[in-house]
Amino acid sequence: MTADVKEAAETAVTDYILAQETKDQLRFLTCGSVDDGKSTLIGRLLYDTKLIFEDQLAALERDSKKHGTVGEDIDLALLVDGLEAEREQGITIDVAYRFFATDKRKFIVADTPGHEQYTRNMATGASTADLAVLLVDARNGLMVQTRRHAFIASLLGIRHVVLAVNKIDLAGYSEDRFNEIRKDFEVFANGFDFETLQAIPMSARFGDNVTAKGQNMDWYQGPTLLEHLETVEVGEDALEAPFRFPVQWVNRPNLDFRGYSGTIASGRVATGDELVVAGPAKISKVKTIVGAAGEVPEARAGEAVTITLEDEIDISRGDLLSSTAHRPDVADQFAAHVIWMSDEPLLPGRPYLLKIGTRTVTATVSEIKHKINVNTFEHVAGKTLELNEIAFCNFALSSSVPFDPYEANRSTGSFILIDRMSNATVGAGMVWFALRRASNIHWQALDVDRTARSEKLGQKPAVLWFTGLSGSGKSTIASIVEKKLHIDGRHTYTLDGDNVRHGLNKDLGFTDVDRVENIRRVGEVARLFTDAGLITLVSFISPFKAERQMARDLLGEGEFVEVFVDTPIEVCRQRDPKGLYAKADRGEIKNFTGIDSPYEAPENPEVHIRNVNRDPEDIAEEVIAYLRERGFLNS
Ligand code: ADX
Repeated sequence: MTADVKEAAETAVTDYILAQETKDQLRFLTCGSVDDGKSTLIGRLLYDTKLIFEDQLAALERDSKKHGTVGEDIDLALLVDGLEAEREQGITIDVAYRFFATDKRKFIVADTPGHEQYTRNMATGASTADLAVLLVDARNGLMVQTRRHAFIASLLGIRHVVLAVNKIDLAGYSEDRFNEIRKDFEVFANGFDFETLQAIPMSARFGDNVTAKGQNMDWYQGPTLLEHLETVEVGEDALEAPFRFPVQWVNRPNLDFRGYSGTIASGRVATGDELVVAGPAKISKVKTIVGAAGEVPEARAGEAVTITLEDEIDISRGDLLSSTAHRPDVADQFAAHVIWMSDEPLLPGRPYLLKIGTRTVTATVSEIKHKINVNTFEHVAGKTLELNEIAFCNFALSSSVPFDPYEANRSTGSFILIDRMSNATVGAGMVWFALRRASNIHWQALDVDRTARSEKLGQKPAVLWFTGLSGSGKSTIASIVEKKLHIDGRHTYTLDGDNVRHGLNKDLGFTDVDRVENIRRVGEVARLFTDAGLITLVSFISPFKAERQMARDLLGEGEFVEVFVDTPIEVCRQRDPKGLYAKADRGEIKNFTGIDSPYEAPENPEVHIRNVNRDPEDIAEEVIAYLRERGFLNS
């Protein structure tokens, strides 16, 4: 090969690689009800674009002969369902991503299960998608699920929709039937703000209008699905949005280098740009940008980079670097849509972890404004949120976070909720707007503080938190402990469930939501009493781990002493001091702990009392001994 030819060949190869790399990319998802032919459609796209590996193809032909439902043809659904089995396990979210490419575009398709309760999976697939392919069976037309999927797609900011009217072969390739379904959908989708809506009649099984026109629908003049996917203009929202860079970690290999690493969430950045750290509002300029292949003059959304700044400012993981011209909001309260993904209901007042960008804070839903019926789109009232339900809620966060409204930025405007006990993802949210109501309330610093008060009383304050079933003996033991402390000259106060429910908490009943609020209030009151320097005894069933943890978090290290009064329910039932078990058994009381309402036993209580045939006096001594051992009773 002459040098010229070699160079030409190399240039051609380089050009080809460059063309592949810079080829634009479309992320889309497919959704539909169970038998609409989703798997077959994706299989057809992968098969026709020849991206199936040879060995998979061979296996497919074999399997189709064995299990296929379509005679001698290759059953494309088997391919997709086979890949399905390889799905990542152990996480609550069940979405398969597949990749394919044509000369014009690269595609990432999120395949979400079509089953009714899989709203959460659809939400996960949709949160990064540009376009949704909604499948309907030409024989059935629009289904409840079609409406729901369209609604969720719109809620998640998808602006482009394809209505794939599939199995048109089974409807006699009828133009009238297609038009009827198309019109139905257009009327219904009117309220959503989709930018493009393309209806396509197709048969995924026979390939009509998926990647090629086919012979059976001369009446249809529009594009095939693939043509549409290759050419639809989706705009590059993430590139056009202002620069946002959530700091993933601070890269500090030596004293001379301090870089901030992460993935650019939106916009572009170049050396010399002025950036602001949202929150503290500190400003500096970009000194260098380091990408995968070394230093670069600029970078854009989706790229993972390390940025160094001209000035030494204090930036840590979770901070958001932003363009100074368009700053994000910063607030500790906001209103957001939430899609709930857990079998355990969302309870207002219960603390969850909220992860937004690279920042994680504690958050509670302070109010469910309304739930949304995903089939009729009506607003409905609700106290809790069940699996797959969607609601508009107010959130209160443990500290201010930077964000953008979801409408303006899908990356910095979305968050997930994590259960603090199980670490599972339980919800996904989209921020609508910041709430500023409470921003004029400041913490009043008081001159006489808790140290001054406890010194005056000559004691170390603590909370003795008694938890256990009704009738377990909590109050009896707490009362003896208090007497002993009193005799010992200690200053104490007891908060007892039955008593507090007569006053402060008389508006609360025994639903999960009310119990959360019951414990939240008593936790706050216990905190105030320790501020006052008192040894505070709390005697509440407090059946949920999450709220006992919340109370613990309100107090200083070592100040929260969880006393688990562990009495088997049979023993409590036998004692039944207030006759409540008998009533609950007769069905006269609902939500009775241990019967039709759960009790989550502590795993590592500071004091664990197995209370069968024991003298309450001895038990009280055991609690006192713990306090003494921990230095609460030294002075
Ligand atoms: S908690 O679950 O919210 O912590 P709390 O300790 O305040 O309960 O109140 C429990 C007391 O309320 C019980 O000791 C019992 O006397 C009374 N009670 C009435 N109805 C119920 C019920 N459905 N479940 C439990 N306790 C009940």
